[in-house]
Amino acid sequence: MRAAICRSYGPPEVVRVEDLPPPTLAAGQVRVKLGAASVNFSDVLLVANEYQLSVPTPFVPGSEFAGVVAEVAADVQGIVAGDRVAGTGLVGAFAEEVAVAARSLSRIPAAADAHLAAAFGVAYRTAYHALRSMAPIQPGEELIVLGAGGGVGLAAVEIGVLLGASVTAVASSAEKLEAAASRGARNLINHRTVELRQALRMALPGGADVVIDPVGGDLAEPALRTLRWGGRFVTLGYASGAVPRIPLNLVLLKGVRVLGFQLRDFATNVREDFQRNEAELADLLAERRLLPHIGAVFSLDEVAGALRHVADGHAVGKVVLDIA
Ligand SMILES: NC(=O)c1ccc[n+]([C@@H]2O[C@H](COP(=O)([O-])OP(=O)(O)OC[C@H]3O[C@@H](n4cnc5c(N)ncnc54)[C@H](OP(=O)(O)O)[C@@H]3O)[C@@H](O)[C@H]2O)c1
Repeated sequence: MRAAICRSYGPPEVVRVEDLPPPTLAAGQVRVKLGAASVNFSDVLLVANEYQLSVPTPFVPGSEFAGVVAEVAADVQGIVAGDRVAGTGLVGAFAEEVAVAARSLSRIPAAADAHLAAAFGVAYRTAYHALRSMAPIQPGEELIVLGAGGGVGLAAVEIGVLLGASVTAVASSAEKLEAAASRGARNLINHRTVELRQALRMALPGGADVVIDPVGGDLAEPALRTLRWGGRFVTLGYASGAVPRIPLNLVLLKGVRVLGFQLRDFATNVREDFQRNEAELADLLAERRLLPHIGAVFSLDEVAGALRHVADGHAVGKVVLDIA
């Protein structure tokens, strides 16, 4: 099978496409023929060996996919060849086939094609759990989304609007802000062309209730300063490459809560909310009430270009690899 492979850590360009032996099935697993995979910022970090977890080389990168079940291990029940499924993991998705635990897969609703199903993974789940359970956002509240044109950010804009919030989108380009506006953002702020703290004050004179931050760096503090008393700041990641250091007196004076969210920890530690939210998300996709914005599609052979596109912060919404 054709697969992308990372043989030594480095920039996106170290990833090459090669012919590799197809994956073999272990107990409890199914083999999935992939139709699409989506590219996440974490894939870039894993290839660079800058993620929180290190994967030994060589490895096939790619952490979310959609496809069709090709083969099922003898001990697996409730899933058969031909079923359309989606899955997320740490690695393995930038390939024509993958073998994964049957219980890690979810069914793709008829309303979604492989591209949509692959794109409706980590970013949407992160944004949904963060807004629904961590924040939790209430109808009529003011929500600031940093990185609002990126994968997690644009999902947070769309989900914030769906949950009844008034959304202020912060991003670095007109194209990203247009995407946020198309998903219902009310205020649009280009942090490259204005001073963020001042612009947020003007847009939200009464302050904000919630900040969703997948970017960190210099944007975090001005956003936190915009919170009104009792606000919630949810830190999701540091795509800027810089972990912000927030003066704790701001937290005290404003009576705000700073909350950290990690999808895999939430899935393990907050089971009840996790399962409820995942069921709600599945319904929202099936009813086409949440539809990922796919800003760019690459072929498997263009995988290094796709990773570079994400690494350089050019992704608008989700970036998909077409593998079919
Ligand atoms: N906590 C969790 O469970 C969880 C789950 C998924 C992702 N994450 C993390 O969340 C972050 C965002 O992920 P994503 O999939 O939304 O990524 P993405 O689509 O690439 O978006 C990241 C955004 O960060 C901004 N950015 C600022 N400086 C950047 C730089 N030097 N390089 C790249 N982007 C830069 C860009 O926004 P502007 O151009 O508008 O400034 C970009 O749109 C990552 O750190 C990821 O690891 C965390």
